[in-house]
Amino acid sequence: MTIVVLVLAYLIGSIPSGLIIGKLFYKTDIRQHGSGNLGGTNTFRILGKKAGMIVTLMDILKGTLATVLPLLLGVEIHPLLAGVFAVLGHMYPIFAGFKGGKAVATSGGLILGYVPLMFIMVLAIFFICLYITKYVSLSSILTAVSALIYTIIIRDIPLIIVVSVLAIFIIYRHRANLGRIKNGTEPKIKWLSKKRV
Ligand code: G3P
Repeated sequence: MTIVVLVLAYLIGSIPSGLIIGKLFYKTDIRQHGSGNLGGTNTFRILGKKAGMIVTLMDILKGTLATVLPLLLGVEIHPLLAGVFAVLGHMYPIFAGFKGGKAVATSGGLILGYVPLMFIMVLAIFFICLYITKYVSLSSILTAVSALIYTIIIRDIPLIIVVSVLAIFIIYRHRANLGRIKNGTEPKIKWLSKKRV
């Protein structure tokens, strides 16, 4: 049963929200535009706020659903492990040629499913970083690192291990963004404007 839950978690994570919303409602493959990433940020950038919000929410919910799956199915497996499989699915989706997102929203969903209060804190840190830096990518990395520091402070060993793994995924998946920040070509978010990010 453990393997079934992990496969299900991976398949949930593999649902390519950005691709589905883009193709279904906008006849657009967001992988052909902007950063080429299949995540919420690129959806905001290419398809606007409404689509961006929906895709981000869907990506968060994938992580949450997978994390509570063991509980829902009554299977004795650590919820964080199921959550990690959803993040793997999100990054390497079987339904989209194994080219998926950068792990941020689905990792957030994992935290939401496991420690909802920590999710609120992580969200607040993300928006503070975003307000200061105006870079979604850098804010994602800084939030992941802050989340790791928090887990070390509260000394929750399973959470420390999982958040370390997620932080490594997140930093690794943002290496192109880091390169663009370095050479000044990474787009900044435009606050309170009608323009897209
Ligand atoms: O969650 C992804 C975000 O941090 C960066 O996305 O499209 O700017 O590479 P993007």
